[in-house]
Amino acid sequence: MDTNAIPTPERKKVIFSAIQPSGTITLGNYLGAIKNWVALQDDYRCIFALADLHTITVRQDPAKFRQNALQAYALLMACGIDLEKSLFFIQSHVPTHAELAWVLNCYTQFGELSRMTQFKDKSTTHADNVNAGLFTYPSLMAADILLYQADLVPVGADQKQHLELTRNIAERFNGVYGNTFTVPDPYIPKTGARVMSLQEPTRKMSKSDENVNAWVAVLDKPEDILRKFKRAVTDSEACVRYAEGKDGINNLMGIYAVMTGKSYEEIEREFDGRGYGDFKAAVAESVIAHLRPVQERYAQLIKDKAYLEKCYTESAQAAQRISQRTLDKAMKKIGFIKKAF
Ligand code: TYM
Repeated sequence: MDTNAIPTPERKKVIFSAIQPSGTITLGNYLGAIKNWVALQDDYRCIFALADLHTITVRQDPAKFRQNALQAYALLMACGIDLEKSLFFIQSHVPTHAELAWVLNCYTQFGELSRMTQFKDKSTTHADNVNAGLFTYPSLMAADILLYQADLVPVGADQKQHLELTRNIAERFNGVYGNTFTVPDPYIPKTGARVMSLQEPTRKMSKSDENVNAWVAVLDKPEDILRKFKRAVTDSEACVRYAEGKDGINNLMGIYAVMTGKSYEEIEREFDGRGYGDFKAAVAESVIAHLRPVQERYAQLIKDKAYLEKCYTESAQAAQRISQRTLDKAMKKIGFIKKAF
């Protein structure tokens, strides 16, 4: 990828997205985000990051954090991120992110940050550590996106509010200083945007859920995937159909639809007159088959630390060059003295 190309009106549209290496990567992350990242690589100029600076808003064990980050990097590569087409770097390796985040903090209102539902949720679940980083997290996320002049940001539905705030920050800054940042649009898939917990299907599937039966990890063994789907909470109607109030079945239908490419009507016909047991097994099998090649590639990649290091280093160097231009532009507009070295 030509990382020095100057953005022009004819340029390919830019995509930016990121994921936190905060533990297991779930089927929710995969269907809501990663699968789309991979699909978009041919048509867009894609820049992806492992958002490790975001992860320390929740206290991490150092050795585990390091291990999780490398594993997440390898796993995303195994999912199909292709460095011939895209950049994929580690956020903490590119200092412009933290620098622009500080600047944007000064253009983000306390009231706006207070309204973020993720902040409200996390300050309840981590009540002993409601730190300033947890509060200002959306300005760092805005910096991630705006540094690359991203047009589109593929995310799951849970990130929509943060994206709206990013747009507001960009518009506010542009309003004061003239056009500086591209105002990004969210790219939220129609199916898979909100994969729900298998145990409490009114809540999103989350890797931080202590009940391991509530989520499926991309690296789960086939027998675990089967067990988790078999135990998935459904309803007593025993009819596979998409309808209000059937949250468990709706969720399984959503997963099966993305895995097989079938519409809800086709799925309803396929399981007409059959019980939930058959349906759950079919969903599990479709997920197992889809994840098998990813798991095989991961097993190879994680052994090759030198290759992974080469990949994230080269991407970070390119990301640094691109993002520095935006940071310099923003700082100049604000009135900072230009660095002479
Ligand atoms: P994170 O790490 O929580 O999740 C990564 C991506 O996975 C999506 N996702 C889901 N999609 C569907 N169903 C679910 N149950 C589910 N759970 C997670 C998320 O929407 C996300 O797209 N703040 C971000 C990371 C980030 C970022 C950014 C994203 C940092 N900077 C800039 C976009 C642009 C986060 O914590 O995602």
